[in-house]
Amino acid sequence: MSKNSKSKNKPKGAPEEQGLWQRRAFMGVVLGGAGLCYAGAIGYPVYRYLASANEKFAEIAKISEVKLEKAKLPGPGTVLMFKFGSFPAMLIHHKDGSMVALSAKCTHLGCTVQYESDKNRIFCGCHGGIYDPVSGQNKEGPPPKPLTKYVVKTTDAGDVVISRT
Ligand code: FES
Repeated sequence: MSKNSKSKNKPKGAPEEQGLWQRRAFMGVVLGGAGLCYAGAIGYPVYRYLASANEKFAEIAKISEVKLEKAKLPGPGTVLMFKFGSFPAMLIHHKDGSMVALSAKCTHLGCTVQYESDKNRIFCGCHGGIYDPVSGQNKEGPPPKPLTKYVVKTTDAGDVVISRT
């Protein structure tokens, strides 16, 4: 029998074709694995970046009180601006001795408002909104709601604790 007659007698799907399919399957697995590794190498840092932003936001949202040291408190007729979580807030020390803590984020479009002691008002320079400096009530201009008012408590040491409730 000649060599040619042997190969003519081989059935289709013979070892050469099986080897070809095995190599293709192997290359498919290798390329698929490489693709997964590549996607992971790019996707994981993106995931961590987005997750850390969410974690940071959740941590800030959990903040329910802020402590201000006695030495940093404003004198009568003045104001101290501070951050409550990620939002601006103000502690107004009125001339009668009372202290009021309010959000300093305008309820219209979110500009930071300012206390004007000489005019006895809180003013938003963006669109002329005016609030009451004791209650935080919106009085004039476009603001639709009062400023958020916080609870102010003084500790035995003279520090001030400002909280949501
Ligand atoms: S943002 Fe304050 S009045 Fe418009």
